[in-house]
Amino acid sequence: MPDRAALVTGASSGIGLAIAHALGEDGYRVTVSARRTEKLEEAAKGLSDAGFDVHPVTANMAEEDDIKVLAAAHRERYGRLDVLVNNAGISIGSEIAGLGTKRLDLQIDVNLRGVFLMTREAIPMLREAGREHGKALLLNMSSIAGKHGQPGVAAYSATKAAVVGLSQATQGEVDNDGVQVTAFCPGFVATPMTDWHEGLPKEEMIQPEDLAEAVRFLLRTSTHCRVPEVQFMRPGA
Ligand SMILES: NC(=O)c1ccc[n+]([C@@H]2O[C@H](COP(=O)([O-])OP(=O)(O)OC[C@H]3O[C@@H](n4cnc5c(N)ncnc54)[C@H](OP(=O)(O)O)[C@@H]3O)[C@@H](O)[C@H]2O)c1
Repeated sequence: MPDRAALVTGASSGIGLAIAHALGEDGYRVTVSARRTEKLEEAAKGLSDAGFDVHPVTANMAEEDDIKVLAAAHRERYGRLDVLVNNAGISIGSEIAGLGTKRLDLQIDVNLRGVFLMTREAIPMLREAGREHGKALLLNMSSIAGKHGQPGVAAYSATKAAVVGLSQATQGEVDNDGVQVTAFCPGFVATPMTDWHEGLPKEEMIQPEDLAEAVRFLLRTSTHCRVPEVQFMRPGA
């Protein structure tokens, strides 16, 4: 495995942690990031106990300064960025009529503004990697709610739809630099985010490892192959 490095946001649990684990298994050195330090350190310990080179950096994706520090910390530690996974996200369930402005802003800040700013900070490093080997990857976590807006999570749906558009626009800007941009649009995934869903057992949901396998697939496609979007559905959904 040649020298490769990745940065995964929202890597302290669920999908981000599964992707960080798969990248570690495949020989990537990984900066893992999340908002809460203690939970992140615990996740990072699990990854390093598994034998992976991981670097935990606490960052709140709603804070521009944190995002700049995160990108700089990654560059300082690993010196290159082959894979960026913009995965951190939150969903606050509420009908529009009852959603306070603060909770609207928080979802926009983390799910959309944070993805934009992280991308902006990372693009120079991704371009460097893409020009070197033609297969840098920028993965943005959208949702099936970004493809079909869901009542009760309107703000979340809107941010996730925006992430699809942002991903398409980003691809146009880095297409000639060996950087592939992909949006993941999953239905219900068995993570802490779906703990509220009492009617659907976790074992009947999409598994975080399913998404991690899809990252592997993206990294193994040829340099002239782009995969703009992957939807993950449950049977019958
Ligand atoms: N689970 C699903 O059914 C599903 C479906 C479609 C899309 N998604 C998307 O998948 C992504 C990962 O979610 P998950 O299901 O794996 O949920 P999760 O287990 O709750 O993980 C969310 C991760 O995001 C981090 N995070 C949340 N707010 C943050 C902030 N302000 N700054 C930095 N990190 C923050 C969390 O860290 P802290 O705990 O420290 O905040 C955690 O590491 C999200 O973007 C979500 O919208 C999930």
